[in-house]
Formats: sequence, structure tokens, C-alpha cells
Amino acid sequence: MTNDLPPHVLVLFGATGDLASRKLFPGLYRLAQDGRLPEHLAVIGSGRRSPGTDEEFRDHVREALEKFVGEVDEELAGPLLERITFVTSSADDGKDLAQAVRDAEDKILEEAGCLLGDVRRLLYLSVPPSAVESMVGMLAEEDLVDRSRLVAEKPFGTDLASARALDAVLRDAFEEGQIFRIDHFLGKEAVQNILALRFANGLFEPAWNRHTIESVQIDVPEKLTVEGRGSFYEGTGCLRDMVTTHLCQLLGFVALEDPHAYRESAIRAAKAAVFGAVRVLDPDRVVFGQYDGYRDEPDVADDSDVETFVAIEVWIDNDRWRDVPFYLRTGKALAEGRRTITIRFHDPRHRWLKPEDGGTPAPNELVIELADDPRIAIDVRAKRPGPDMALVEGVFRLDLVGDAPGSDPLEAYERLLLDVMRGDRTLFISSGEVERLWEICQPVLDRRPETQPYEQGSWGPQDAVDLPLGGWRLGNHPPDRSFKS
Ligand code: BG6
Repeated sequence: MTNDLPPHVLVLFGATGDLASRKLFPGLYRLAQDGRLPEHLAVIGSGRRSPGTDEEFRDHVREALEKFVGEVDEELAGPLLERITFVTSSADDGKDLAQAVRDAEDKILEEAGCLLGDVRRLLYLSVPPSAVESMVGMLAEEDLVDRSRLVAEKPFGTDLASARALDAVLRDAFEEGQIFRIDHFLGKEAVQNILALRFANGLFEPAWNRHTIESVQIDVPEKLTVEGRGSFYEGTGCLRDMVTTHLCQLLGFVALEDPHAYRESAIRAAKAAVFGAVRVLDPDRVVFGQYDGYRDEPDVADDSDVETFVAIEVWIDNDRWRDVPFYLRTGKALAEGRRTITIRFHDPRHRWLKPEDGGTPAPNELVIELADDPRIAIDVRAKRPGPDMALVEGVFRLDLVGDAPGSDPLEAYERLLLDVMRGDRTLFISSGEVERLWEICQPVLDRRPETQPYEQGSWGPQDAVDLPLGGWRLGNHPPDRSFKS
């Protein structure tokens, strides 16, 4: 497969870190597999500490590919690895790196016979928020801003004031159009599919409001613990790692008004409008938890009260959503690993049809699973086949990859790396959104709820289990029926 991407020099800061191993190198490999990488590409890994020679770094990348991609095709991995080198750099010293970028560009010019102006730079900052400002200063100092696109990882700052300061630094060096604030949840197929489901179906959009919908749950429990990321978690916590970013972005897609087009300006404007209508959080409706054993993790303080779990209630003060609670929950070391959005519909007013036992049937729910194999299910009530007029619960299921011929799903980072190379910022975040989301969460940062302990493998503290009226869909009884085979 060929593509028309321009030649690229990709510089990956934090190249020996967790994200690079788990997602970014595997993302590059998958792009290579699908023939979606630029024909002319150099990848320069960078960081403060050298992992050894280029060969040793390539071995490290190869191990990451074997671990996180699974079976690696040598015919693809070999040529990709050959394009990868490593150069140390720090906020105070980027000279060797700048030279390496120029050398890589010279090589590309020779190979591709193009002009320097045709060669793009992709600068990926996979570094902690505290390191971003100084790294940006270094990039400007070393003249690496021209022809560059800069990818910044969440969290963007740690509160409103630091997000503003960070943004000022970024914009001092880069044009806004060069900045790609990445939230990988927006690269997930199923998240983009929320737009298709809502706006391409006459069935759903007219029902997508407070008259029909009782509540919305955005539930991202994770089974894994902080797994060696203790120092990151101590500095960040679950609210900043997951809620102000991934979960709020999901809320934006579920709740936005019709953007009328799939393009950057339209999607950003629609998200900005809905975030503008989100009420600032009430700390009394926020539950923080910490799993038992977190304090024994490496690099975690013995008396840490950092939250590894958050559940919150959110309200949106606009005509569409007034009085509809949104419940967001996420945490580490929980009973299941899921990424589930549940839209719960009101019961019909006159409930003259009943199940045989005369009880209350489970509510109608539209359940969107944002897993790698995205699925949608709708729980409905129907007539039980037989002589009596009694209700039974049924499920409509849609397997988005299996059911769509010619599907070509991309993993989230694969999709977003491709978008950066294409220069498409539709699925990236604006600074206005970032600031508004910090404003919404600021009361919780100012008055942190007490962090309550919870058992590993549970559904978090009891206060969180009790937060939504009518209970959570996940972890509830009777067990979730939608995705049983
Ligand atoms: C990351 C968080 O951004 O997202 C992690 O830092 C979290 O803590 C991860 O585990 C979840 O992503 P995914 O794609 O596995 O749902």
C-alpha cells in the first residue's frame, strides 16, 4: 500500500518510557504493517539517559514490540528498526539532538530527492507535565520549531493555573496549529462511532435528551494496578490521569450538540459549548479511593493519600441535559477491566405490561463498549413467546468490527500518530477545552474528598457504589447480560 505522507523525522522524547514501549513503538509498527508510514522516515528516540548503543536501543524496542504487539513479522520490524536511533538530550542540552535531526534530514533529502521544506518534523513529548516547559524552551533554542508538529501528552498541567502557564510557554514557541494535545481515548474507534451512532441515525438523535434519557454512566474500571508507575501516580493521581482527560472527553462526545461536520473547527466548537455548560463539580458528590496495597508499590509514600479511584456526579446545565445526571467512574485494581458508556432510558409512564413475576423489568439501556473490538448493545423489553402477555428482557447486539465488511480498525495511538502526520487535529484537544475542564474540576482540587480505602478486585469504596441513583450497570446484580456470547 502506498500513501502520500511527506518525509518525516520523528523525535520521541521519553523513548525508553512505559508509553513508548506499550503504545508508541507498537503504533509505529502497526502503521508499517498497514503501509501507512511515510516512505521516507527517520525515528530518533531521545531521553536524558542513554540506553546504550543504537543497536542496544533497537533491541529494547524489539522486546517492546514482542511484548505488546505479539507475533512480530521480521520483514516489517527489521526495516522499521533500522530507521530508529537514539540520542540523549535534556532541557539544558539539545545540541546533539538538533545535529541528529539535521543529519537525518540530509539523509532523507538524498534518498527522496526532495526539498528541505518538504520534510516534516514530528516532536512527541512523552514526558511528565513538569518537564514539558523546559523541553519546549530547548526545542526553541535549538531551532527545532520550523516545519514541526508538537505532540503533548495529557495531563496538560496539573490545575488551571499551571495549564495556563504551560499553554503560554507552548504558544510562545509554537503556532497553535502546530500543537497536537493528545488524548488517546479519542483515537478509539468506538469513541468516534458515538458521533456516527448519534448523528447518522434518525432513531437515536431525537431521543438523545432529558425527555428520554434518565442518566448516563461513563465507567472505566481497570483491573491493573499502577504497575511500576508509582512515581507517576504519586505526582498525578487518578483524577488527573483519567478523569479530567479521558472520561471528560468521552462525556464531551456523548453530550455535544450536532457539530454539523466532521472537521476540527466544528468538533472543537461543539465540545467547547458542552464543556461550557458543565457545572463545576461539587466535592460532596465526588468519591476518592485508594486500593489496599497501593502504599506498598515501589516509589509510593508510606502515608500517601493519592487517589487510585474516582467516582463523580456531573450535571450539564443546558436544555438537552438539564436534570440528567452523568456518573463517571474509574480506578485501578478493580473487579473488571471495561470501558463502558451506558445510556439509561426513562421507563414508560404507564407500565401496564409486566414480566410474569409482576416485578419491575430492567431498564432500557444503550451500552457502548469501547473495547478493542467495539460493541454496542441495547437492552429492550419484549413479549415472552407463549400464551400469556408477559415481558421478557432481550438484547440487540452490534459487533462493530465483525459485522462491518471491509473493516480496517486502527489501534488508538496508531490512528492518532497517523493524524499528526496528516496534520489533522480533529481528534485532538484545544487549549480552551483543557482550561474549562480544569475550571470544572478545580473545586475538587481545592477541597479534596477524603481518600477511602478499597479492596483490590472490588468496585471501589461503598460511597462510590451508592453514588448513582439506581446503581451502576457494571458490577450490579443481575449481572450484565449484554455481552455474553
Ligand atoms: C492512560 C493512563 O492514559 O490510559 C493509564 O495513564 C490507563 O493509567 C490507560 O491505564 C488506559 O488506556 P486504555 O487504552 O488501556 O483504556
